[in-house]
Amino acid sequence: MKTVINSIHAMEILDSRGNPTVRAYCSLSDGTCCSASVPSGASTGENEAVELRDGDPKRFGGKGVLKAVENVSRIIAPEVCGMDPARQVEIDRLMIALDGTENKSRLGANAILGVSMAVARAAAISAGMPLYKYLGGAEAVRLPAPMMNIINGGKHADNSVDFQEYMIVPMGAPTFAEGLRYNAETFHCLKEILHKRGLATSVGDEGGFAPYLSSNQEACQIIVEAIEAAGYAPGEDIGIAMDPASTSFWHDGKYDLSKSGGGILTSSEMTDLYTVMIAKYPIFLLEDGLAENDWEGFKEHTARLGDKLEIVGDDIYVTNTRYIARGIREKTTNAALIKLNQIGTVTETTEAVRMCRDAGWKCLISHRSGETEDSFLADFAVAMGSGQLKSGSACRGERLAKYNRLLEIEAELGTEAEFGNPFKH
Ligand code: PGA
Ligand code: ZN
Repeated sequence: MKTVINSIHAMEILDSRGNPTVRAYCSLSDGTCCSASVPSGASTGENEAVELRDGDPKRFGGKGVLKAVENVSRIIAPEVCGMDPARQVEIDRLMIALDGTENKSRLGANAILGVSMAVARAAAISAGMPLYKYLGGAEAVRLPAPMMNIINGGKHADNSVDFQEYMIVPMGAPTFAEGLRYNAETFHCLKEILHKRGLATSVGDEGGFAPYLSSNQEACQIIVEAIEAAGYAPGEDIGIAMDPASTSFWHDGKYDLSKSGGGILTSSEMTDLYTVMIAKYPIFLLEDGLAENDWEGFKEHTARLGDKLEIVGDDIYVTNTRYIARGIREKTTNAALIKLNQIGTVTETTEAVRMCRDAGWKCLISHRSGETEDSFLADFAVAMGSGQLKSGSACRGERLAKYNRLLEIEAELGTEAEFGNPFKH
């Protein structure tokens, strides 16, 4: 007998920041029953798919998601029940049509993505396959480099650092597990260095430290010291990646670095600043070095830095093929960030990855600053084979859930597993 979807429902749970988010459940006629939870960002792009919130000030300061939960049961479930769970594309397109808006504002991208992920997981279980194999096929054997955000600033921390994320990348590690170890050891050395200097060792939203530093550059300096203290060679064993998330400090066409006392800079001056930093520190990747609407600035930015660095667009593309296609045409960047909840279905996210791959672009698969213990993202990263994943630091359970799942996947793949330097051309 053909397996079909028996029931779909959702509930309101809390994310890692204590804000409500959607968990969707899917059960099948063969007895399979599972759930998936939706993450939530803080430095969101203006063109992201809409995260539907109740706006009721009496509940969670208006951030409740009961309307999205209701949309799952009342509008999505009756249409999707009875369908074959393996028809992911059809199910996702049906939900897009049911919503009927450009940005999923009617049903909520949080409602739609919850169901999309839960259906994928249920279909994988029902097929007796791990999720990464189900979504990625037989060639899903590549583990991503863990791009670990160990210093947090910007909107993710109340400190003096304008740039949101400083990440370490274990470029010289032979396996994912070893890479994770390189990073975790560096994280602990960083904690000791901060402690010795009397700097705060409390952490930001993604588990990185959030010290008060004198400049955005000092973060790189301290990370280099931590890499060395852990016994690794900066730039060989471990490199640095940065996500300034500069949309968050872009005002009136200028970049306002006053959180750190860095002044107010134009797009070109920002690129000058990055050029200085790149010459001094082993930086290999720069995400959102400029803001989401600064398409012109980005062109110059990528023309000047693109042969040395992976230049990743996050807010500017919001995992949407419409914007990624423009970026490819105009050489805006040479890589894209990929976040499931920016676009709202597994199918559209996969399409975005495919578009990047076809253009010879790299993809950086990413968590959100508000996460849950769901490790869907780990399987998704292996399925997409992009070789790069941001999932935060070496602390906070919701971040480790993904890294630990990747350890399991690597062990399960055994000699099939691949792990390479993501910055090798
Ligand atoms: P967000 O930040 O999840 O808070 O939007 C992550 C990022 O900018 O990459
Ligand atoms: Zn970003």
